[in-house]
Amino acid sequence: MESSALKNLLGQLFSRPPRAFVRTYGCQGNLSDSERIKGILAAAGFDFCTCTEEADLIIMNTCAIREHAQERVFGNIGALKPLKEQRREMKIAVCGCMPQQGGVGEKIQRRFPFVDLVFGTHALPQLPQMLFEIYSGTKHLRRVEDEEGTISENLPIKRDSSFKAWLPISYGCDNFCSYCVVPYVRGRERSRAFDVVVKEARELAAQGYKDITLLGQNVNSYRDGNKNFPKLVKEIDSIEGDFRIRFMTSHPKDCSEELLRTMAQCRKAARHLHLPVQSGNDEILSAMNRKYTRSQYLETVNLAKSLMPDLTITSDIIVGFPGESEAQFRDTLDLVRQVEYGSLFTFIYSPRDGTAAAALPDPVSRQEKVARLQELCSLQESIALRRISRYQGKVLRVLAEEVREFLPDGQALISARMESNGVVEFAGDEGFVGQFLDVEITDTNRLILKGKFCECHGRKITGIEGVTA
Ligand code: SAH
Ligand code: SF4
Ligand code: F3S
Repeated sequence: MESSALKNLLGQLFSRPPRAFVRTYGCQGNLSDSERIKGILAAAGFDFCTCTEEADLIIMNTCAIREHAQERVFGNIGALKPLKEQRREMKIAVCGCMPQQGGVGEKIQRRFPFVDLVFGTHALPQLPQMLFEIYSGTKHLRRVEDEEGTISENLPIKRDSSFKAWLPISYGCDNFCSYCVVPYVRGRERSRAFDVVVKEARELAAQGYKDITLLGQNVNSYRDGNKNFPKLVKEIDSIEGDFRIRFMTSHPKDCSEELLRTMAQCRKAARHLHLPVQSGNDEILSAMNRKYTRSQYLETVNLAKSLMPDLTITSDIIVGFPGESEAQFRDTLDLVRQVEYGSLFTFIYSPRDGTAAAALPDPVSRQEKVARLQELCSLQESIALRRISRYQGKVLRVLAEEVREFLPDGQALISARMESNGVVEFAGDEGFVGQFLDVEITDTNRLILKGKFCECHGRKITGIEGVTA
């Protein structure tokens, strides 16, 4: 359905443009989907607001990755009830990964009868039609398709940023890691056409985007005919413009020498590799169905470091996978010490219905798992602090992302992203946001670095992360 029919209907119902509030949970894939949801809404005539109280339509784009994420969403949907009671004409929609899980869509409708629309990840392209139906009076609409359709390439998009962009290159996942719900809620892996992705990258570069992140649950298995992921990176690197290329997530089993060599050759590829290891123990890795061993992972890391000495590697780790022993956890700590990650996303294992690991016996107590998580986090913090101390006094090229606050002298405290994906703060002009700048690092005693803006534009920068020689 065209959004024009919806637009006409909304024009009859509202004397001013209706306002939408879109809340996103979960990963970058969901953030990117929300940009398409907002694109569809904007094309139908919606304006956007930043709080639920002002909204005529609330859309909650949900995540099902862990129990805690899901409970938070349930809590936040429940909190909308009084608002809906005050303003019956307001519509509430819940979409994304939660409804796509068996039985959860029904559960949302049973538990929250005031929700007007529930739809799964595969139904997103039908949003104009679904909104038309609920604004025409249909109650409790639910659309959750079991099968993913073909990739819808012509959905409008309203990006959240004018200088950082998500660029999906594939959807879904075929890996079935034993703990993970994503293959069930996102369907089979499918790659976007090579030319379509390159065209979108070209448009982003032409619009002045400075940081383009290629997205997929496993970007390394991207394929369109004989064109694989390294070819895609190379092609995007050759596009004219001053921008960085990032990608996530790179599954270690498919992180090839070809990819690492390509990264090393590509000037625009950020010296940052997110390479989730999940565990440092072979039995646990095998039970997780990750399809690599600790030594294969370390080989990949060593090759990457030898090709790119200034590379920062980051990772995801799960502690307390069913049956993980103290000794197996120690293997993870030992691997973290060896790799020296820049940062880690750490999680306590959360059983997900329908996944293979949910059926495994899990004798380790919650308390023990929390203690392991804390030990891992404090080890990582000490490693990260040691790593960043090498930046002291160096000049780095950073992308100014946002104004954190205004300082007493009227200057803006700017938060900027380094090539490694680490954050540095410095005083400057609020107009810097969205630009690459040179910043001298003055304080490395905290994970968020402090710096000083340098008037050294145009100077040739070489070496570590653009450290001046
Ligand atoms: N496709 C990416 C990960 C996407 S999910 C990859 O393979 O690396 C992001 C992270 O959430 C995972 O890397 C994992 O560390 C964590 N995660 C996924 N399922 C989980 C579960 N059931 N319990 C705890 N953490 C989980
Ligand atoms: Fe989940 Fe594994 Fe797929 Fe990542 S690769 S989304 S962890 S199943
Ligand atoms: Fe969550 Fe779905 Fe992403 S489950 S992590 S939002 S793919």
